[in-house]
Amino acid sequence: MNLNDLYAAAADLLAAKIDLPAAEIRAALVQPPQPEMGDLGFPCFTLAKKLRAAPPKIAADLAAQISASELFAKIAAVGGYVNFTISPAALGEIAVKAALAADWGASSAGNGKTVVIDFSSPNIAKPLAVHHIRSTMLGAALARLYATTGWRVVTINHLGDWGTNFGQLMVAYTRAKNSGETPATDLGAQLKLYLEFHQAAETNSVLEEEARAWFKKLEDGDAETVKMWKIFVDESVKGLQKLYDRLNVKFDHYTGESFFNDKMAATQRRLQESGLLVKSDGALVVELQDVGIDAPCLIQKTDGATTYATRDLAAAEYRRREYNFDKCLYVVANQQELHFRQIFAILKKMGYAWADGCEHVKFGMLSFAAGVFGEERATGSTRKGQIIFLDDVLARAVEKAREIIDANGRDDEVKNNAGRLAEQVGVGAVIFSEFMQRRQKDVLFSWDKALNMQGDSGPYLQYTHARLSSLIAKSGVAVGGGDAQLLTSALSRAVLLTLAEFPRVLLGATAENEPSRVAEYLLELCAVFNRLYADKKEHQIITADAARTAARIDLVAAVRNTLRRGLAVLGIAAPEKM
Ligand code: ARG
Repeated sequence: MNLNDLYAAAADLLAAKIDLPAAEIRAALVQPPQPEMGDLGFPCFTLAKKLRAAPPKIAADLAAQISASELFAKIAAVGGYVNFTISPAALGEIAVKAALAADWGASSAGNGKTVVIDFSSPNIAKPLAVHHIRSTMLGAALARLYATTGWRVVTINHLGDWGTNFGQLMVAYTRAKNSGETPATDLGAQLKLYLEFHQAAETNSVLEEEARAWFKKLEDGDAETVKMWKIFVDESVKGLQKLYDRLNVKFDHYTGESFFNDKMAATQRRLQESGLLVKSDGALVVELQDVGIDAPCLIQKTDGATTYATRDLAAAEYRRREYNFDKCLYVVANQQELHFRQIFAILKKMGYAWADGCEHVKFGMLSFAAGVFGEERATGSTRKGQIIFLDDVLARAVEKAREIIDANGRDDEVKNNAGRLAEQVGVGAVIFSEFMQRRQKDVLFSWDKALNMQGDSGPYLQYTHARLSSLIAKSGVAVGGGDAQLLTSALSRAVLLTLAEFPRVLLGATAENEPSRVAEYLLELCAVFNRLYADKKEHQIITADAARTAARIDLVAAVRNTLRRGLAVLGIAAPEKM
């Protein structure tokens, strides 16, 4: 049983008394403004005309006809509303018993449905820049949200592993080799080669041409060139995976752009057969003006080369064929809005009804104010080496977390574990700052915000989780043995009602593809709980009254488990001690 079930039960009780479908009543239920008024209410205003009576009169009549039950302790009219107060037993069931379960918050809403999530998907042959954390963590959180709400989830890294930049690497690589070096090929070395190329190309215009020639050889399938390309890709992925491991992110498939090399001809044929391909200055495009998109979509360039868009069309067809998805999400920055509008519109024109299940889950920019990260670096240009790498940001965050832990940690266990803890807190801080605002907003990163131990940060939630864990350990009480019906104070009820919202928050966050809803909820839960916790006079957790202590420890454990489950969705560790 959960909060939604209680709403449905209230709707059923009302439906037995009025001539309205239960679903309609269910949809009309609201939360009363003051907790003493009740926990859910039905507005009678729309009935007034039909019943030719004033709403307060209708509400009073209805309330009189519905008697208290196991689920609802009180049914009363307040103005034009019929308000229901959830019984202590039912509240204990949905907010404590349910919240202590290992799978708390999970639901079957998505059962039988499949979602494909394309996220992170960086252009490789260079390390991840800090802004890649956006797609990576948003996508990973969405994958966990969908899984928690019962969907089958397929995660895909659509690596940018094909393009002239590989030609550039090959130029730099062979130049180094010709001058007697044996250049390394790992991710760091690839960046070096990349920078070397651009530095040399500034004064030597032939190099760009050479790079294009290398790429042409690659496209033509020249065995030696393909071999070299493969080394760069494999090394790149190896480097990426190290970072993904650190962020606890996994992909079911690394099917990058190159994977579609042999699949685009068929896609292009289908475009041709549907009469969508139009010649334009020697190139092939699809016109989209009739569906309100002015820019035509480029399918084949004048030199016969295929495009990013063609690859995405082929990839969409492939995914549908392979996974039979209901939804296919593309977690990609706002800037690519036009690209995805074009792709989805073309898929529709090709006659694919499933294109309606494709969605661009877009997000805003991540930036660092000048000076926040050392020197003059901004998220700007890789070419000039002015990029902030994600690895460096994580390293700095962990360093700063370590300072905080070393300054505060009194406990030996904490001291001995400081390295691991700093990793969890530092990385958690960076991840959480991704979820502090709705995804479409731009993010201005700040260390003070990310590492604020007093509130609205990942470390604050982790710290609350650790504090509650210590409290439970200290109590010596076994979790799950309390009687939740003893939790009747207004503050306790407020915590219980907030806890009961958790499954709905997960469903809402999934429906909107908005993990920040979970972050916002966890902060609110902490705030509500801390009001109770601060009230030592009335709400001391551990007292001489064993029954009351047991009930309160269960409440604490329910909050702790909710924090843990919520942080897990966001990809953040929940340490037991801090
Ligand atoms: N590699 C692209 C970029 O870095 C993002 C790819 C997103 N996924 C896709 N199917 N287009 O801009």
